[in-house]
Amino acid sequence: MPTITIDGKPCSYDGKKMILQVALDNGVEIPHYCYHPGLSIVASCRICLAEIEQPNPRNEGKLELIPKLMPTCQTPASDGMVIHTKSPKTIANQKAVMEYLLINHPLDCPVCDQAGECHLQDYSYRYGRGESRFQEAKIKQPVKDVGPYVKLYSDRCIMCTRCVRFTKEVSGTSELGVFGRGSREQIDVFPGQSLDNELSGNVVDLCPVGALLDKDFLFTQRVWFLSKTASIDPLTAGGDNIWIEHNEGQIYRVKPRTCAEANKWWITDETRYGWKFVHSEDRLAQPRRQQLSDMIDCDWKRACAEATRGLRDAAGKGAGTIAVMVSPMLTCEEAYLLGKLARGLDSQAVLAVGPVPTRGEDKTFPGGYTICAEKCPNRRGVTRVLQGFGGEVIDCDALLAKLADKACPIAAVIVTGNYPANWVPDALPKALGKRFVVLIDTLKTALSDKATVVLPGATWAEKSGTFENHKNRLQAFNAAIPVHEGARPEGQILLDLLASAGLSSPAAFDAQAIRQQIGGALAGEVQLPKDDAEMGLDMQYVEL
Ligand code: SF4
Ligand code: FES
Repeated sequence: MPTITIDGKPCSYDGKKMILQVALDNGVEIPHYCYHPGLSIVASCRICLAEIEQPNPRNEGKLELIPKLMPTCQTPASDGMVIHTKSPKTIANQKAVMEYLLINHPLDCPVCDQAGECHLQDYSYRYGRGESRFQEAKIKQPVKDVGPYVKLYSDRCIMCTRCVRFTKEVSGTSELGVFGRGSREQIDVFPGQSLDNELSGNVVDLCPVGALLDKDFLFTQRVWFLSKTASIDPLTAGGDNIWIEHNEGQIYRVKPRTCAEANKWWITDETRYGWKFVHSEDRLAQPRRQQLSDMIDCDWKRACAEATRGLRDAAGKGAGTIAVMVSPMLTCEEAYLLGKLARGLDSQAVLAVGPVPTRGEDKTFPGGYTICAEKCPNRRGVTRVLQGFGGEVIDCDALLAKLADKACPIAAVIVTGNYPANWVPDALPKALGKRFVVLIDTLKTALSDKATVVLPGATWAEKSGTFENHKNRLQAFNAAIPVHEGARPEGQILLDLLASAGLSSPAAFDAQAIRQQIGGALAGEVQLPKDDAEMGLDMQYVEL
């Protein structure tokens, strides 16, 4: 494997790679602004310049110093190179670039949202000169609303053009451009346009300083108060890897987590801003049961006992009298426990997948990123697990048709929701009729006042589990925040129901243990959450 030496450290690489990329892959920091592995290379910011010695084949392979500093982001690595990023000449360049970038940069870190995760702040501390020699007045630039989610603070911009290249190369929408020249140069949207595409929020992540900021997150939290939990997109079949950033049980923002196989460095605005339902005022927060024709609150013990009593009564009427509708918003582990409960009570129980929301068609952007039309994270995983119980797994329409048939023997139905908005098909309440219905859901819907027993569940951010994406990639995630008060994770609810029905002993939910019970791919092929450093892809923010 070819190897180069950076500041005395041997760094191996394969294929064709730039020196900066080899350094980052090997955990060596070289400061960089304009370089991003998902974008074309422009080598415009000049902070990554370094002294390079290269073996000369015409001089018996002896190392020769290239007489000028070279941009490491744009210079291909070649076997035997020696790179100096801490030599006096390289350090003098780093200091000069930082001084130049800060000449007109406002000193507004205390009120800037980027403070705490700003490359300019961090590099100023590590590579800057510590004091300004600039006596003149700084040039002031305007703050602009450039799109529904993004605000541009022009005078913080360092003209790295990452944002412009993103809209040109990845989203293909080209709303942003560079206008003006010299110190008056600025980023802006083209006249009459707005930064309004399905991937617009990514420019905020790409911006290495506080120039492009997220309007949704603006002034809500200082970033150093936030904790990050690795998770998976809960809203589409794409399986995008995300960070949930939260503080004291409240989610504040969702950001992409680099994953070469799933989403690379990007997520859609739909995923970025679609988490609000987690803190909705419409969350179900109390088990309820029907008493005569009224719904009354009850405790979990009573609700579980009532649910298992009704399910047992139905099972006592013969085989095929219980049906379960497993939402494609649920995890593989929860689908398994639902199947186990239904088939444990009734060996012929009908297994169905709940409604699969879709919008339009899959859309692939010029940069290769695809937005899935299927707006649920785990149809494939739920179907895969239910098929493991044997027999046919039907879809929601087939279940509705069965229920609508007067000769249908189904007497009890376990219905699961967990969708981010009202999801109940118009025909469902009527098709369920007077049957015994156990509803496990997160938000109030048309069904929550009609079911016989209502058990409040947890959103994906509040529990652990596994989703299977549209490319059959099984990805596990962990709980980021505590469960909404009064609710319980579905996995725990189902274990409690299994115990209440006498089908297993009481147990605490453990996603890993359930995956082992399921076996097959779920026991061995699940991608456990990795952090960026493990994946060698942490280009956006270098931890200091
Ligand atoms: S707005 Fe941010 S990403 Fe765009 S050029 Fe300026 S510094 Fe770079
Ligand atoms: S010139 Fe290399 S990162 Fe900007």
